[in-house]
Amino acid sequence: MSKSEIINLLAKETKLRKEEIENLIEIPPTSELGDYAFPCFILSKHFKKSPSEIALKLSRELSKEIEATKNLGSLGKNINEIKAVGPYLNFFVNKINLAEKIIKINSNFGKTNIGKGKKIAIDFSGPNIGKPMHIGHIRSTIIGDSLIKIYNFLGYKTIGINYLGDIGLHIGKLIVAYELWLNKPALKKDPVNELLRLYVQFCGKEKSEIKEGQEDNDEFSNNEWTNKAKEKLKLLELGDKKTEKIWHEIQQASGRTFDKIYDILNIDFTETTGQSQFSDKGRQIVINALERGIAKKEEDGAVYVELFDKNQKEPNKKYIQRSNETASYITYDLGAAVERAKKYKFDKMIYVTDFRQAGHFDSLFTILKLMKYDFADKLIHLPFGTIRFGDEIIATRTGDIILLEDVLKKTIEKAKSEIKKRKTKGDEQKVGVGAIKYIVLKNEPTSDVHFSWETALSFEGNTGPYLQYSYARASSIIKKAKSKNFNQKLKRIPPLTKYEIELIKKISDFEEVVQKAGETMNPSLIANYSFELAQTFNEFYHNCPVIKDEQEAFRLKLVDAFRTCLKNSLYLLGIEVMDEM
Ligand code: ARG
Repeated sequence: MSKSEIINLLAKETKLRKEEIENLIEIPPTSELGDYAFPCFILSKHFKKSPSEIALKLSRELSKEIEATKNLGSLGKNINEIKAVGPYLNFFVNKINLAEKIIKINSNFGKTNIGKGKKIAIDFSGPNIGKPMHIGHIRSTIIGDSLIKIYNFLGYKTIGINYLGDIGLHIGKLIVAYELWLNKPALKKDPVNELLRLYVQFCGKEKSEIKEGQEDNDEFSNNEWTNKAKEKLKLLELGDKKTEKIWHEIQQASGRTFDKIYDILNIDFTETTGQSQFSDKGRQIVINALERGIAKKEEDGAVYVELFDKNQKEPNKKYIQRSNETASYITYDLGAAVERAKKYKFDKMIYVTDFRQAGHFDSLFTILKLMKYDFADKLIHLPFGTIRFGDEIIATRTGDIILLEDVLKKTIEKAKSEIKKRKTKGDEQKVGVGAIKYIVLKNEPTSDVHFSWETALSFEGNTGPYLQYSYARASSIIKKAKSKNFNQKLKRIPPLTKYEIELIKKISDFEEVVQKAGETMNPSLIANYSFELAQTFNEFYHNCPVIKDEQEAFRLKLVDAFRTCLKNSLYLLGIEVMDEM
C-alpha cells in the first residue's frame, strides 16, 4: 500500500522507472529513521548535484506535494513525513491510518484487477500415459496450479491445461510389452505398478534407461526393440483396431491413477487433452512448412527445419516428423499451440516443465515464429530444476525412479504420526500435502529442491506445517476471546507498539508481493512472504498479550487481519488452513 505510493511519487518526480525505484528502496535499520528509505546516489549524474543536496531538494518538493493532498486523496494521509538524512530520502508512514485500513481487510484482501480482460493459459503437469507420475511432474503440477491461482487473484482469466503424453515412443514400447508379458489380474489390482513393470522389462530388453524429466527423447536407431515400438506407433497412427484397443486400456488404467493423485493434491484443470488429439493439426503444419520451404524432407521421410544457434555457424536440423513419417513430440506441440491460440486467444501461454525441455521449447517457439504465427511471441517456457532426495531415496521396484504416489503416501503417513505425537487435531492430508507443496514452492522454480521429510514436516522453521500452525494459533486466540470483544466497535486506534507496527506493515505488503510473483512467474516470493508474515505475527504474539489486555479489542482485530492475510497467501500456494491443529 504505502510502498507502492512512495514508488509512484518518486517515479513522477525523478523520471526513474518504477522497477528501478523498487529495487533501490531500503528499509532503514531503525524505525526512528523512517519506514522506507531511498538512496539518492543514482540521481547525481542526472541532477548534477551531490546525493545529499538532491535528498534535501526532493524532501522539500515531495513534502509540499504531500501537504497539498493532506485533505484530499490517500497519499497525504498515508505518508506523515519525508526527511532528508544525508544522501537518503526517508519516508515516515502514517501507521494509524494504515492500521485503520488493515483491521478492515476481508477475504478479497490482495486481489487486484490488473489482469482484467487478459487471458493466460498455463500448460502444466502433463504426465505420460502408461508411465507412473514421477517426482519431476510434481513440480510442474504444483507450480502450475499456484500460478493459476496467482493470475486469477490478479484479475486475469486463466486456462489450466493438462497435456497428457498419451502418444509417443513410450506408448509404442508399452504396447509391445503389453502384448508379450501382461499380467491381467495385476493390471486390475495395481495398474501403476503393472504398467511400470512392463515398461521396465521393455527397457531391459532395449537396454535403455528410464529417465526422469526427459521424456520421449530416448530414441535408439536400429535397435531391434526400439524398432518394434516404432512399428506399433505406426499401426496406431494407421488406426489398427487391435493396437488401438490396447492403447485405450493403457489410457484408462493410467487415467484412474492420475485422477487419484490430482484429488489428493486438490488440483484441477480447465482442459485435459492428449497429445494425440493434435496429430492431424501437427501434420498439417508440417506439410505447410514443407510447402513454404521452411522445412525440408530427408529421403527416409523425416522432416526438419534448419535452426541457427547463436554461437554456431552451421545450422542444426530440428526434426518435426520422424523417419517413418510418424509424428514426434514437437509435431504434436506445434498442432496444440496453434489450436489453443485459436480456441483461447490467450495473451500469454506458459509451459511449465523440467529445464531439460528448454531446447525443445526454444525450437518450438522459433519454428512458430518462422512460420509467422502471430501468437508465437506470447509463448513462454518456465523451466524448473531437479528435486533431490538427499540420502532418503525411497526404494521402488526399479530402484531409481521416485514415484509421486509413494512420496505422497509416505508424507501423509508421516504427517499422521507427527499429529499423533503432538496430540493435536490436524488433518493429516492437509498437513502432508501442504508440506510437499510448500517445499516445492519456497524454492525459486529454477533452483533445485532438496527434499527431506524431516524438514518438510517440521512444525518449526520455514515449512508448510509451521505456517498452518501459525494460522491455527491465531484462530484459537479468536476463539478464546469473548465474542463481545471481537465485535466491539473500535473508537480509535490505540498507541501502537513496535510489534504491532511491524505486523501491520508486513500485512500491508501482501498486495505488492502477489503482483511481483505474477510478473516474475515466481510463487516462491509468496511462500517466503508467508513465512516472514508468520514470524512477524509470532513475534507480536510473544510480546503483546491479546486476551484480557486493555487493547484486546484492537489486537483481536489485528490477529484476525493476520489470519485473513495468511489464509490468502497460503491459498495462492494451494495450501489449505485449519482452525485447529
Ligand atoms: N509429457 C511431458 C513430460 O512428461 C510434459 C508435457 C509438457 N507440455 C507440452 N506442451 N509439451 O515431460
